[in-house]
Amino acid sequence: MIFKGKNIVIGITGGIAAYKICDLIRLLVKDEINVDVILTKAAKEFVTPLTIQTLTSNPVYWDMFSVDFEPKIGHISLAQKADLIVVAPATADIIAKVASGICDDLLTTTICATKSPVLFIPSMNVNMWDNPIFQENLCKVKKFYKVMEPVEGLLACGDYGKGKLPDVEDIFEEIKICLSKKLIDGKRVLITAGPTVEEIDPVRYISNYSSGKMGYALAKVAKRLGADVTLISGPTALRKPYGINFVSIKSADDMHRAVFKDIKSFDIIIMAAAVADYKPMKKADKKIKKSGKSLTLDLVQNVDILKDISVKRKKGSLLVGFAAETESLIENAQKKLIEKNLDYIVANDVKEEGSGFQVDTNRAAIIGKNLLVKLPLMSKEDLAYKIFELINKG
Ligand code: PMT
Repeated sequence: MIFKGKNIVIGITGGIAAYKICDLIRLLVKDEINVDVILTKAAKEFVTPLTIQTLTSNPVYWDMFSVDFEPKIGHISLAQKADLIVVAPATADIIAKVASGICDDLLTTTICATKSPVLFIPSMNVNMWDNPIFQENLCKVKKFYKVMEPVEGLLACGDYGKGKLPDVEDIFEEIKICLSKKLIDGKRVLITAGPTVEEIDPVRYISNYSSGKMGYALAKVAKRLGADVTLISGPTALRKPYGINFVSIKSADDMHRAVFKDIKSFDIIIMAAAVADYKPMKKADKKIKKSGKSLTLDLVQNVDILKDISVKRKKGSLLVGFAAETESLIENAQKKLIEKNLDYIVANDVKEEGSGFQVDTNRAAIIGKNLLVKLPLMSKEDLAYKIFELINKG
């Protein structure tokens, strides 16, 4: 849990989306992040202090002049304590106040007094969003603070348009982006993930057990570390990660095409996908019927995408492969490192409990030409951090 112990101050203002912030608080607290909440007067009409206090296990703040609070000079202590202040939902009113430097309540004074980053997440009716005075205020706020824009959708008032609070999972991810050191800032990173699907006929296919979890964790972590990330993914049940260029593919041939669309533009390429080694020689146009006899399928080998990348990638780029092994883990992975001309290979034993396919954890060894680091069992996200730390050191 890389964000454990961080301090987030959430300012909730008076919009209907305020109730969604309760879910956001749950996600943060589950990751052992400390959450303090400031409610504006209007926010208290939408969510109660009792709800927030129960979710955060912390006192809830709204009164600038409370005697319980003021000996510590409330707005200053919260402003200093915060690793990040998040204002969500941010109404047109709070945006206007901050744009004008108004400090007339606990939230506006805390924002004014902080040296920490502040993230505003506006949410409102589409006409309020389009209002030119609001847009001018927002432009001013954007000069000094980060703004996560609302999304388009059906709004609580019944109108359709821009103004909806983004999904809380995406807000949670944006918070993690704000809290992360930019280790690979501005680098272009390509990640592949998931299985490939090789069709036999219109209803059947050959594939494997990859869930995409390893590759998606790498993509999310690369984004948090400041990279511009493209994720090429085979079919998975996972949610499309926030803030990432996402390319959905089916077969190894599709993945090959997608990878080579812009291969020379990438600084780091990591192939975590489980590409099917074989595909049917010919896909049947119609469903193959039962015949009462055995059936033989002719398979041909798929293109080795990784090997091809090693020849055609940008000079100076880093190429990382994965090795899914069931025996002689290190020896087999070292062979792949040489054969495929990689800079690094991440070896995982897919037969080991808690490792490899579908689970949230992995035990891996990171192997380079002069490097062998055997890591303990950890979450796929933590492994992704280790991979970027190690390959970035060189
Ligand atoms: O998706 P999850 O459920 O989270 O599971 C994670 C994982 C087990 C899929 C992942 O950790 C992993 O090991 N990925 C690589 C799987 C694999 O195909 O390994 P391999 O040893 O067969 O291939 C070696 C490397 O060559 C891999 O980087 C693979 O992407 C690449 N390859 C393989 C075949 C092929 N035709 N083209 C390739 O580019």
